[in-house]
Amino acid sequence: MTKLCGGELNLVFAPYSDNWRKNRKLFQQNFRQSIIDRFHPDQYAMVHEFLRQLINTPDKFMQHILALSQRTIFSTLYGLDVDLDDPIAKTMIKSNHTFQRILLGAFPAVERYPWLRFMPSWFPGCEFKRVAEQCLRDMNKADTVPFEMAVENLKTGRGSSPIAELAIKAEGNSEEITAIKAMGTTSLAAAADTTGATLSSFTLAMILHPDVQLKGQEEIDRVLGRDRLPTFDDRLSLPYVEAIYREVLRLNPPLPLGMGHGSTEDDVYLGYHIPKGCNVIANIWAMNRDPDVYSQPDDFLPERFLDDSTGPFTSLNSINAYGFGRRVCVGKYMADNTVWLTIASPKDMEGNDIDIPEEYTNGFTREPKPFQCTITPRTPFAKTLILATAS
Ligand code: HEM
Repeated sequence: MTKLCGGELNLVFAPYSDNWRKNRKLFQQNFRQSIIDRFHPDQYAMVHEFLRQLINTPDKFMQHILALSQRTIFSTLYGLDVDLDDPIAKTMIKSNHTFQRILLGAFPAVERYPWLRFMPSWFPGCEFKRVAEQCLRDMNKADTVPFEMAVENLKTGRGSSPIAELAIKAEGNSEEITAIKAMGTTSLAAAADTTGATLSSFTLAMILHPDVQLKGQEEIDRVLGRDRLPTFDDRLSLPYVEAIYREVLRLNPPLPLGMGHGSTEDDVYLGYHIPKGCNVIANIWAMNRDPDVYSQPDDFLPERFLDDSTGPFTSLNSINAYGFGRRVCVGKYMADNTVWLTIASPKDMEGNDIDIPEEYTNGFTREPKPFQCTITPRTPFAKTLILATAS
């Protein structure tokens, strides 16, 4: 189904191969830690825009979170300002939804009997073909529309972007152009739900644990004062905020079972025979709640990272939520920056006397079910600071 839907070029789904290695290298060259700060200006702009949206329509905070997650990729990679109302943003959300259904096994017949793909789409039981045809059209649009706009903007002097610069260098090399387009589309698909789920989980955690919220705010006030917004330079001075970020990803990893992997050869692990081709799932959820590693594993306790002898600023490799090994999340440095900056920015979140249940979806990406809360700037001056970012 993934192939029929046009997901073949998406790095997330690609099996280990020369092609995967080539495409992963392109990703790494563009998202590696040493150059990730080139995205900072866009990340500031997007997070500040998000804060202004929270001031204007706080009740739509979940929509603003999704917009922030997707917009950051459009802006950083393509140099485009694309809001949720834009048809291309809607197309991406729709195709993401289809891929989530595929990953949850919504089309078992064609996965088991691939010859069914030759049946006509009107044939009873072949709904999957209609879904796939629509998704393929959507993926083609997502692959080309923002890419062509970015290249056009560069050629006409209206603005540069990483995708457009790569495309100009690769002009005439169709294989390379395909890989560049796929990097953009994969980023849009991989970033939106994961970043969004993390920020929704953070918001929910702050409402359910007002004591933690208060401690985080006190730390921010002590270190930054109240007359400016946080910058990435402040990060190492904010250990409690860091601990909150780590605890959100520990307790609520957006991909609790990571991505499925296939063993490439026969193996034996702790006495278990794992045959070649076996579907192997890393249970991030269980690892993050292992009582041998975390005391009171089901409780939201950021302090655990402060009490640990290593402190909260360990390498991102220690965050299981980003996966591990050679398929570890390749966008993790970018995700880390967007999520941290949003968490550290000043806002008050309250349950507003409503009893808020801690309910999560059962999708492939795990995120809080819609909930109500009140989000306000922490002080009148914080509001002035946020509104001033518009200029
Ligand atoms: C909080 C946000 C994010 C989380 C928690 C997250 C988590 C993950 C996880 C668990 C995997 C699977 C790792 C494995 O197979 O072991 C993954 C893969 C991947 N992620 Fe992320 N991700 C996030 C954001 C992003 C962003 C912003 C991008 C792109 C800009 C991205 C791009 C990718 C790609 C391309 C892969 C596939 C890598 C491969 O198979 O070689 N992710 N991510």
